[in-house]
Amino acid sequence: MIGSGRLVVGISGATGIAYGIKVLELARKAGVETHLVVTPAGQQTRAYETDLDARDLAAMADVAYRPADIGAAIASGSFRTAGMIVAPCSIRTLSAIAYSNGDNLLTRAADVTLKERRRLVLMVRETPLTLGHLRAMTAVTESGGIVMPPVPAFYLNPASVADIVEHTAGRALDLLGIDVPDLPRWGESADSATNG
Ligand SMILES: Cc1cc2nc3c(=O)[nH]c(=O)nc-3n(C[C@H](O)[C@H](O)[C@H](O)COP(=O)(O)O)c2cc1C
Repeated sequence: MIGSGRLVVGISGATGIAYGIKVLELARKAGVETHLVVTPAGQQTRAYETDLDARDLAAMADVAYRPADIGAAIASGSFRTAGMIVAPCSIRTLSAIAYSNGDNLLTRAADVTLKERRRLVLMVRETPLTLGHLRAMTAVTESGGIVMPPVPAFYLNPASVADIVEHTAGRALDLLGIDVPDLPRWGESADSATNG
């Protein structure tokens, strides 16, 4: 893993909270300390898309913060982390990060991640995309962020939605050098080996 053994995880209000949940699960499996912030819209998608209550979700992280807690540890660059994953990342949160608008703890922590030149991975989820969305993605990439839309890969023949979510979450953790044990990988599975 790059840098310290800490990972900041942001969950914003795009559909696909399963990605954020899986990032938390895999990070825990990999022995990484997680620091979580969920926006109010993220709490709405939690209610729509899962059976978890807010406390269940918070318990999946080592430390959970309120989005209004702008003085929390992760709001400061002196608090060392390996980086941050926002999963899923709404267009609103993408735009705030792209234009350095630290209006809540999630966007502030992301801005800190960029300014400290740490790894920031944004699982931006929207479709179709406007020119404004694309410009915000360009701006965040120019600032050093990594835009990683959760687009499924079919070459590993996923058997379920859970497989797709796990593969994508694992690839996001790869970008921070976090090694997830037993993640299916092309070239390392029996199937792909026989495919040559
Ligand atoms: C069920 C539901 C699904 C949504 N899906 C998306 C989405 O996929 N992408 C997106 O950018 N916004 C989506 N939104 C809208 C965002 O939640 C909204 O823009 C919100 O202001 C984002 O706030 P946040 O970035 O602080 O989480 C969705 C909203 C709801 C209620």
